[in-house]
Amino acid sequence: MGTAVITGAGSGMGRATAELYLSRDWQVIAIDIAANPGIASANLQWISADVRDRNSLETALAPAVAAAGGQIDCVANIAGVFPPTTLETYTTENFKFIFEVNVLGVLNVTAACVPYMKSGSSIVNFASVDGFTVSPGQLLYGASKSAVIMITKSLALELAPKGIRVNGIAPGWVATPGNAATGRMDEAAKSIPLGRVAQPSEIAEWVWLLSDPTKAGFVDGETIVISGGDVMR
Ligand SMILES: NC(=O)c1ccc[n+]([C@@H]2O[C@H](COP(=O)([O-])OP(=O)(O)OC[C@H]3O[C@@H](n4cnc5c(N)ncnc54)[C@H](O)[C@@H]3O)[C@@H](O)[C@H]2O)c1
Repeated sequence: MGTAVITGAGSGMGRATAELYLSRDWQVIAIDIAANPGIASANLQWISADVRDRNSLETALAPAVAAAGGQIDCVANIAGVFPPTTLETYTTENFKFIFEVNVLGVLNVTAACVPYMKSGSSIVNFASVDGFTVSPGQLLYGASKSAVIMITKSLALELAPKGIRVNGIAPGWVATPGNAATGRMDEAAKSIPLGRVAQPSEIAEWVWLLSDPTKAGFVDGETIVISGGDVMR
């Protein structure tokens, strides 16, 4: 048992990850720009904050970590945005929005959490298969997730002397509310070698696995593709 900081806990994989850690009796400090969607647990502290705002994060995190026992054992950087963009549709505004949430957000949350982390703790950053292979219409999102993959390696190197491991997860198609709303999931499943999309809960299990020093203690700077064989690299 320990304390996990989980961003994006308001929906999809972040919510599934928060629920998994709570089900295993961990303390969870959830960070989301949105309100708690209804996760009920005495072990949950909800911080409504924007991952783009480092000062607010640091201010809100200090009392929450103190209330959880003073230490963070796992950070899952899951909050992300994925509006489509192309050369024709990109703007300075959507560039800033996508990179500030997906890239600056990972840095801000990591920087805010590291002072509370000891040797043996771990950080898991959510990238995407789109960070490895081109997804048409996801010009800036793909670039932002490539940045997350590179940041994961750089931070792994920077934090290794403290005994903090940093890894990434690059999901393919996952049955999240956002994807369900596109109505394209059944069609997408047909082109995936394993013939289905992933469930958020099975992605959450990989956060758990990567954070476990007894199982993944020698995995560092890696971003694991979980796509049912959709992407081979
Ligand atoms: N859904 C997929 O198939 C898929 C595939 C590959 C990668 N990903 C990545 O996985 C992560 C989770 O995806 P999901 O589909 O579960 O997302 P989601 O849209 O269901 O949930 C994202 C959460 O992040 C929060 N959020 C957004 N901006 C924020 C901000 N500025 N500050 C704080 N919180 C913020 C939202 O409020 C929301 O609760 C994202 O990083 C996404 O890019 C998703």
